[in-house]
Amino acid sequence: PIRKSMMNTPIYLYNGIWIDESCLKAMIAFQQNFQAQDTDIILVTTPKSGTTWLKSLVFTITRRFQYTISDENHPLVTTNPHGLVPFFEIVYPHNHVGTPRLFATHLQYTLLPESIKTCKCKIIYLCRNPRDTFVSTWHFVHKMKSKLDPSWQFPSLEESFDQFCEGVSKFGPFWEQILQYWKLSNERPEKVLFLKYEELKDDIIAQCKKMADFMNFSFSSEEENEGVIKDIAEFCSFEHLSNLEVNKQTEQHSVPWVDNGLFFRKGEIGDWKNLITLSMAEKLDQLVEQKLQGSGLKLN
Ligand code: A3P
Repeated sequence: PIRKSMMNTPIYLYNGIWIDESCLKAMIAFQQNFQAQDTDIILVTTPKSGTTWLKSLVFTITRRFQYTISDENHPLVTTNPHGLVPFFEIVYPHNHVGTPRLFATHLQYTLLPESIKTCKCKIIYLCRNPRDTFVSTWHFVHKMKSKLDPSWQFPSLEESFDQFCEGVSKFGPFWEQILQYWKLSNERPEKVLFLKYEELKDDIIAQCKKMADFMNFSFSSEEENEGVIKDIAEFCSFEHLSNLEVNKQTEQHSVPWVDNGLFFRKGEIGDWKNLITLSMAEKLDQLVEQKLQGSGLKLN
């Protein structure tokens, strides 16, 4: 089956997910050729759930002995996070910067190559409340496509929303992906760490420690006393990253076609209120509750 994405471009149902043609090609190359290593760390997210933030945090935590954040040439000062932690399904093969190897993907677990499942590499998963995820996606695709073609015709907000609720969104149905990694994080906690955007916002220090422990990059008590975690959290904050020259760029693309600046919009919880109605939000809540029923997971 073929449908139109929120951007009004074709997306295809392939092995249970909705995906566009360019990602489909890279995904197949990745599935056929990628060989995971025990030390790899793979970041999995639903689109627009804070991938850029997670990439920055994991990069900074794992490279903190190589690059101090006070260094004006720290890679995150000169390069957008997406240029440092590549997506598997966007360009394949990909460059990665430093060790351990860091990669990212929006793919469901069932679509990952066997070597990722069987070796000791680790997965950090991040999702976000679907209301804000939908709204963030809406703004992102509209800004991106309107810049490429100002006369582009988009589906209406209601159509896009109904389609999102149907599960027809890039890499969706979003609940399938969330449930797969949620279950796995309970069954194999050493393999998958499950995080929520709202929890990162709520207590970034605790979440940084959790991530560092999970990746075997724990902070020492000296580091804690010296405020290293707080410094990393501030370095990766929306305020700091979005104000770096490299991330304000409208002509530099770390992901094809996407201006670096487009990965930073508001970075807040609850911005859905400025776009969708309360009844739309309630409809989405009901749907999510129904989809997650019995899983023990709540997303609000
Ligand atoms: P909003 O559109 O709600 O502002 P992704 O990185 O997965 O594409 O997600 C983008 C969303 O994460 C955007 O949300 C963006 O503003 C927000 N974001 C980017 N960097 C962030 C940071 N350092 N801290 C918090 N949120 C961030």
